[in-house]
Amino acid sequence: MTRVATAEQAAAAFETFAEAEGGTMPMYARLCRTIASTPAHRLLLEAPTGQRLPVLVLAALHHTVLEHPSTPLARWYPTVTGSDPPDDDLSAALAATLEEHGASVAELVRVRTVQTNEVNRAVGWHLALRELAGGSDRPVTLVELGAAAGLNLALGDHSVEVRTGDGACHQLGRADAPVRLGTRVHDATWQPPSGSMPPIEAAWGVDRDPVDLHDPASVAWLRACVWPERRARAERLTAAIELARTHPPTVHRGDLLDDLDPLLDEVADGTHLVLLSSWVLAYLSRDQRRRLAEQLQQAAARLDERDVRVSMLSLEADHVLDWVPTAVLDQSEPPDRRHASLLAVTEFSPSGVAAAPIARCQAHLDWYEPL
Ligand SMILES: C[S@@+](CC[C@H](N)C(=O)[O-])C[C@H]1O[C@@H](n2cnc3c(N)ncnc32)[C@H](O)[C@@H]1O
Repeated sequence: MTRVATAEQAAAAFETFAEAEGGTMPMYARLCRTIASTPAHRLLLEAPTGQRLPVLVLAALHHTVLEHPSTPLARWYPTVTGSDPPDDDLSAALAATLEEHGASVAELVRVRTVQTNEVNRAVGWHLALRELAGGSDRPVTLVELGAAAGLNLALGDHSVEVRTGDGACHQLGRADAPVRLGTRVHDATWQPPSGSMPPIEAAWGVDRDPVDLHDPASVAWLRACVWPERRARAERLTAAIELARTHPPTVHRGDLLDDLDPLLDEVADGTHLVLLSSWVLAYLSRDQRRRLAEQLQQAAARLDERDVRVSMLSLEADHVLDWVPTAVLDQSEPPDRRHASLLAVTEFSPSGVAAAPIARCQAHLDWYEPL
C-alpha cells in the first residue's frame, strides 16, 4: 500500500481510485473525484496508518446512506434506491450528508477495517486451482489468509460463468449452485483450463478479525464494504451469507505472522496445501510480507517431510507481489490495466521459492486476462 501521511497524499489516493475504477464504477469514480477536491479527503487520515485506502471511507459513506436512506447522498446508491445512480453532480449532497453525519463517518473510519468481501474474487481460485492441480487428484487443503467471513472458501457451492470476446459462455463449477460468479475474458480464443477441480479435503481461513455473520452490526459493515453500483454484487453477498450461516466456514482468529504457522502443521499427510491471499498482503508492510514468506518457506520444508506440497495463490496489487516476475506496464496502457490486480502462484519447497504470474484482472474479477 502506498503510505498516506498527508492531506495531499489522501486526495491523490482518491484520484487514483477514480482513475483505476472509473471505467466500470462511474458513480464511485465521481464520488472519489469530489472527495479528492473537497476537504472530505481528510477523512482518510482518521484511519490507522495501515488502513488508509479510499475504500475504507467509501464503505463508511455507504454504511451511512444504508442507515440513513433519506440523507441527500443516498440518492446515488442503487443499494438504497433500487435504480441506477443519476449522472448529476453529487458534491452538494456529499457536503450535506457530511454536515449531518460527518462525526459518525469519521468514527467508522477510525474503528472499522476494510472487509471487501467480494465473493466474485473466488473466480480466480476456480481458474487457477484447475491449472495448478494439472489433472492430479491429490486432495487439496485451502487455507485463506485474511479470510474475513470465509465467504470465498465455499468453492463447491459456486457456479462460474466466463464470457469471452466472441460472446461464448463457459460454465465452471455447479450450474445450479446458490452463489453465482462470473468474469469476462476479452480473448475470443480463450478456453477454460483442461484439468478438473481437484478434490478439496478441507478449507479454512485465518483472520485477525473474523466476521460474525450472526452479528447484525458486522453484517451491516460487510454490506457497506461491497461496492454499491452493481446490484448483482449485493445479491451475491446475500446468497453467500445465507450459505455460510447454514454451513459456517472455519475462520481461526489470529494474526498471519504470529498465529498461522502452528495451524499449518495440522494439514494432512500427502495433501496439497494451497494458501489463498486476496487483498490481504496489501495490509502488511514490506518487512511483514518478507517475514511471512520466510515462515511459509520454513513451513514448506517441515511439511515436505510429510509429502505435503505447498503453493500460494495470490490476488493482490502487483507491487505487493514484488517476488513475482511481471512485465512493467507503461503509462500508455489503459488505467484499468495499469491498476489491475495480479493473480500469481508461488511454490514453496525445501529448495526455494518459485513464482509465476497467472493473470491480470480487475480486483473483483470483473475481467480476467491470462498471462
Ligand atoms: C480487504 S479484506 C479481504 C478479505 C478477503 N480476502 C477478500 O478478498 O474479500 C482484508 C482482510 O485481511 C484481514 N487482515 C489484515 N491484516 C491481517 C493480519 N495481519 N492477520 C490476519 N488477518 C489480517 C482483515 O481483518 C480483513 O478481513
